[in-house]
Amino acid sequence: MKAELLALVDELKRLRKEGVTRVSVSDASIQELKKRVPAPSVAASTRAEVLESIPAQVRSANAADLDKALAASNAPKVGKAALATGKLPKPPVVALPEGDKAARWEALREIVLGCPVCNEHVKPGKKVVFGIGNLDADIFFCGEAPGADEEVKGEPFVGPAGQLLTKMIGAMGLSREEVYIGNIMNWRPEMPTSRGNRPPTEEELNFCLPYLKAQVAVVQPKLIVALGATATKGLLGPNSFRSLRQVKGQWKEFEGIPVLPTYHPSYLLHNSSKREKRASWEDLLKVMEKAGLPISEKQRRYFL
Ligand code: URA
Repeated sequence: MKAELLALVDELKRLRKEGVTRVSVSDASIQELKKRVPAPSVAASTRAEVLESIPAQVRSANAADLDKALAASNAPKVGKAALATGKLPKPPVVALPEGDKAARWEALREIVLGCPVCNEHVKPGKKVVFGIGNLDADIFFCGEAPGADEEVKGEPFVGPAGQLLTKMIGAMGLSREEVYIGNIMNWRPEMPTSRGNRPPTEEELNFCLPYLKAQVAVVQPKLIVALGATATKGLLGPNSFRSLRQVKGQWKEFEGIPVLPTYHPSYLLHNSSKREKRASWEDLLKVMEKAGLPISEKQRRYFL
C-alpha cells in the first residue's frame, strides 16, 4: 500500500482508539482516495451499504482539508472533544401557546430562531434553520442538519441535495410547497475548519429533537420520511439499527406517526446507480400509497 494510505489508516486507527466513531470525508477526498486505492473486490451491494453508512452530512471538505488533517496528525492530538461542540445544556422543554396551527408554528419558529444555544453554534452571518412547508401536509420529510447553503438561506434542503429532494417530491406528483420539510438539527454542526460538514453528535441530536417533535406535533402529518441514517437514528433512537439497510423501506414509528427510513438525497447524488435509484423510488411509492396519493403506471415503472 502506498505510504500516504498507510498514514491514513494509522490516523484512522488512532482516532478510533480515541473514541472517534465518524470522520468527515469529502467527495473530493473520496475521488482522490479512489485514484490511489486499487478497485475493491467487494460486492456492489456491500459497497453501497458502506457508502450509505457514511452520514449524509459528511461531504464537501476538499482534498486539501484531508491533507491538512493528515498533516495535523503529527501535531498534538485532538480527539472527539475537538469535533464536538462542548457540553450542551439539557434539551429544551417546548411549550406552545393555544391557537391554530399557524399561530403555534409561528410561536415555535420564534422560539427556535431565538434559541440561545442554537444561535451560539451558528457562525457570524449564518442562520439557525427551521422547518418549512405546508402546515397541513400529509408528508413530513425529515433530514439531519443544515449544510452550507441552508445556513446561508435559513431554509432546509436548498443546496444540491435539496434540489434533488425537490425533484423526488415532484416525481411523486407533489410540489415542495405541499409537503413539510425539516431537519432534526437547527444549526450546521461546527467543524474545526470553515469548510466541510460533519454529522451531528448524539448530544446535538438530542438537544434539537424537542424542536422537531414540536413541529411534528403542530403539523400532525400522516407520515414522516426519514432521510438517511442520521435522521433515522434521531427519530428512532441511537441504537435502533446498525446499518440503514436494516430498516430502510420498513415502516417504523415516531410519536405514534409512521416513519419510513430511506436514503438521503445526498447519498443518491453520489451513488446514482439505477438499482439504488429504484430502491429509493420504491420507498417513495410506499409513501405515496400510505398517503393515499394517486400512482400512475408510469410512476410505478420509474427506474425499472
Ligand atoms: N441535508 C440535510 O439533512 N438537511 C438539509 O437541510 C440539507 C442537507
